[in-house]
Amino acid sequence: MNNPPNIAIVGATGAVGQEFLRLINERDLSFGELRLLASARSAGRTIRLKDQNHTIIELSENSFTGIDIALFSASGRISRQYAPIAAQAGAVVVDNSSAFRMDPKTPLVIPEINPQEIANHNGIIANPNCSTIVMTVPIWPIHQQVGVERVVVATYQAASGAGAAAMDELAQQARDWAAGDPITQDVFDRQYIWNLFSHNSSIDPDTGYNEEETKMIFETRKLFADPEINVSPTCVRVPVLRAHSEAINLTLKQPLSEEDARDLMASAPGVQVIDDRERNRHPEPLMASDQDDIFVGRIRSDAGQPEGLGLELFVSGDQIRKGAALNAIQIAELLL
Ligand code: A2P
Repeated sequence: MNNPPNIAIVGATGAVGQEFLRLINERDLSFGELRLLASARSAGRTIRLKDQNHTIIELSENSFTGIDIALFSASGRISRQYAPIAAQAGAVVVDNSSAFRMDPKTPLVIPEINPQEIANHNGIIANPNCSTIVMTVPIWPIHQQVGVERVVVATYQAASGAGAAAMDELAQQARDWAAGDPITQDVFDRQYIWNLFSHNSSIDPDTGYNEEETKMIFETRKLFADPEINVSPTCVRVPVLRAHSEAINLTLKQPLSEEDARDLMASAPGVQVIDDRERNRHPEPLMASDQDDIFVGRIRSDAGQPEGLGLELFVSGDQIRKGAALNAIQIAELLL
């Protein structure tokens, strides 16, 4: 690996790609060359970073010569096609898509949970799904302490998970509505503002779970290296721009008091407790937007479980940041 490394960003013009650039700047990540890759639509445009103009290049099979780290966030299809090419060319790929997450040869990593897995990579490291990240970071310290047997979770997912076009469409629908114009409908093919709907991924006809929910079930098992942990999610898209929230109910293997749960999460890396009952101040997506930490509140023992064996939480975390770009950048930092 070159020092400083040469970094490529695949999908540099997208919602996550843009966040990569913001984080590289913010965290002062040093690089030799920064190669910004996107589709032919964006090729030739320039992006300014650290007082330098970087020209966007069209992604091709030759894009990875001399690259040490390739951050992919363009789609599963692009990752399946180009991540192996990048790895073959000598780069370590950190992939945001779902393409390699469940591949037994590919580590699935959240630095706060299983950083040791990074060492086992074969050229590709997978970044988990954003809803999985927002859920697992705060519950990991509890799982380590007493064991989580079962998680029942309902998500409140932002537009950003569906990319920049979905965020633009939500903003456009707000303008349409305020102007009294017909509501623009393209990405989700329905009115999104003032509405919410079951997650826009396809539903397995046998299980009844959609793809997003299935990702949360299986990725949690892989991240926690616990094939027994049961996760039952209901994923919902809400008209929020960029942070996901989740109502989480845990069944624990051993009793844990509400106070101990709060202390465990308060001292866990990447987690911030916002749990003010008196002022009714708890995690909100706007509070979590542009923040690195996952916010957790509404921490209380489950009234429907035997003493200490159930726990309720409400969490919010920035989908673009910790849910995608930040987690990948943290992996890149550990690789270095
Ligand atoms: P482009 O802007 O040139 O279309 P988002 O997740 O926000 O929708 O962003 C998707 C990212 O993936 C964008 O940077 C987009 O680039 C990029 N992308 C989409 N299709 C391709 C492609 N065929 N080749 C390279 N990059 C692509």
